[in-house]
Amino acid sequence: MFLQAAVGGSAVLVAASLATSGGILGPLVPPAKGPATIANIYDAELDPAKATNFVEGPLGRMPYKFFYWPYDPSVSPYYRNVLARVPDSLPTTDGSVQTSNGKYVAYNTTCVHLQCLVNPGYADSQYRLQCPCHGSQYEITDAVPQRGPAFDLNLGRLPRIRLTVDNNGNIIAEPWDPSDNLEGVPGIGLH
Ligand code: FES
Repeated sequence: MFLQAAVGGSAVLVAASLATSGGILGPLVPPAKGPATIANIYDAELDPAKATNFVEGPLGRMPYKFFYWPYDPSVSPYYRNVLARVPDSLPTTDGSVQTSNGKYVAYNTTCVHLQCLVNPGYADSQYRLQCPCHGSQYEITDAVPQRGPAFDLNLGRLPRIRLTVDNNGNIIAEPWDPSDNLEGVPGIGLH
């Protein structure tokens, strides 16, 4: 009960803060990281046969890892993102990258309902991102809400991260444009 109240209370505070500031950071915004290598296509943690963090589904395992970008956790916990290696047969969308060793997507994990952090999961026969607080679910291929309050309230999808891959197999998080690192705002969604 206490934990629920604490989570709910902090979510309301954050929501109020977002409403007044229009963003997740205060006025002292540090420099963003810029393009950053977040993984390599040959990392064991992204290998379906070796990964310890994965979602099991009929199309195979979906390994994933969390990372912070374009700010680290000391700036805000709401810049936690997830990188997932999705089954190759799932559609490619803006920002995702198909490599010689897997297809990858990355999203910010701050729920656009009341700012809890979502996690990879499987529901309705789909690979999803699921919110532990009130049950919102987002499609893994495009982060559009499919269930729960984020869907019922017709809220925007989770911010996507634009991925590229270099000749060494490094997966790189890239700003969408110089002024817009994520495609959207954590906790608010696509703008
Ligand atoms: S915070 Fe309410 S569903 Fe995620």
